[in-house]
Amino acid sequence: MLVLTKAVVWRAILGLMLIHSTVKAHETVKEAAILARKLVDHSSTSIGTMATVYPVDHPTLPGHPFSIQEYYASCHNNGSLTLIFLPISRHSQNILSSPSHFASISVSAEHPAAKNARVSLMGDVTVFRDSRLVPDVDAIRACYLKKHPDARWWLPDDDKGAHISYWARFDPHDVYFVGGFGGEHYIGQIPLHLYQGSPPILESEHGVAGRILIEQL
Ligand SMILES: *[C@@H]1O[C@H](CO)[C@@H](O)[C@H](O)[C@H]1NC(C)=O
Repeated sequence: MLVLTKAVVWRAILGLMLIHSTVKAHETVKEAAILARKLVDHSSTSIGTMATVYPVDHPTLPGHPFSIQEYYASCHNNGSLTLIFLPISRHSQNILSSPSHFASISVSAEHPAAKNARVSLMGDVTVFRDSRLVPDVDAIRACYLKKHPDARWWLPDDDKGAHISYWARFDPHDVYFVGGFGGEHYIGQIPLHLYQGSPPILESEHGVAGRILIEQL
């Protein structure tokens, strides 16, 4: 009975220490959302690792995950990503064969390491076979080319382009963030609304902080 009590006490102490260190070291989920969004939007390369799944009727690799680098550009306020969809690519074929056009895109810190942040976005791809249906297509093109000037050779609607291509939009449904080592950083799911709202939240926080500063002066 005494031993049990001791064990319980120790477990409680350990638990408290754990909670204490977690609370002290972690960024909040809201801060994690801002960090995750920065990682994607301010990436120096705007290249992520895309993952898709081979169709179940594929002759040699049915249902296998497939991942390889992919260009993206963050051209929407809500964190949706602009892609150029090349029907010739393995990813595009996998996406089209998925009834919901599912894909995942992950982005890591400039120097990928266990202690550095990375984020994985799970979502779906909307392909615009008719670029007249792309809202603000001129702004989208300009935004994409700013990140990827070399993509000018395979832009949609270019009769002389190297490949047939279409504008596409990746909408995240879910966000998984690894801030770094678990004891020090947030690791886990980030609610979509926090991720999508991150720049506006950041701006309004600046606004509030600015106002307080001025009021204090
Ligand atoms: C994100 O914003 C774009 C417009 O910039 C819109 O077309 C798209 O549907 C939005 N995505 C989500 C998931 O709300």
